[in-house]
Amino acid sequence: MPSAISGTTLYGDNPAAPGRSEFGHSVLDLPTGRIELAQPSDALEQIYEHERATDGTEPPYWALAWPSGVELATAVAGTELGGARVLELGCGLALPSLAAAQGGARVLATDNASGALRFAAHNALRNGIRLDVAHCDWSDPWSAVAGAPWDLVLAADVLYNHESLPALAALLPRLVRGTGEIWIADQDRPPAHAFLQGCARWASVDTSATAHSEVSIHRLRPVPA
Ligand SMILES: C[S@@+](CC[C@H](N)C(=O)[O-])C[C@H]1O[C@@H](n2cnc3c(N)ncnc32)[C@H](O)[C@@H]1O
Repeated sequence: MPSAISGTTLYGDNPAAPGRSEFGHSVLDLPTGRIELAQPSDALEQIYEHERATDGTEPPYWALAWPSGVELATAVAGTELGGARVLELGCGLALPSLAAAQGGARVLATDNASGALRFAAHNALRNGIRLDVAHCDWSDPWSAVAGAPWDLVLAADVLYNHESLPALAALLPRLVRGTGEIWIADQDRPPAHAFLQGCARWASVDTSATAHSEVSIHRLRPVPA
């Protein structure tokens, strides 16, 4: 995957003080308020090390705030979501979830990486944002399905090459009904086109550009059968 480059509105990625190097900090200013984000300061090194090891498991992609997450958080913050029930899949550091909850939505942020859930919960706490977090693997998505139908499902940078793409494709239509929507932010990853073509069998797909030249947001709305 291309490396994560901070979005235009994410800044201040300072390492923590010497001897306390486990956290880096960033700040994102949104219409809903400021989000101060803690993240592992050695995330990129961990990802590169892991990719070199090629042991079959996924590198800790959750540990970076990817441009798609920043752009999706920005789009979410510009939308009236008061009282809406929102689910995020593959949340990583969960910027879109934090923005939705800051805007008054009731949000469940999910990922299959326990580190992601720890940081999402920590960042909610340090920003005074109410956020629920739960483990959810797309191959065994009980926590996401149990809460369905959702008003809005969010996912940022999940359409890269990984073995769970078919499970994710099968899961999405189970999560929304009627007026529910799914917003997927994508940085032009190779599998995205075919994935969205598959979604067009059950949903309309509207795509819009973002401030980041490579990131688009695809809005899926189920069409009546
Ligand atoms: C590229 S990262 C994007 C993280 C975050 N959404 C962002 O944009 O900053 C992909 C995320 O998908 C999660 N993920 C990958 N495979 C998954 C699976 N099978 N079930 C649930 N989450 C998964 C990873 O743990 C990671 O957090």
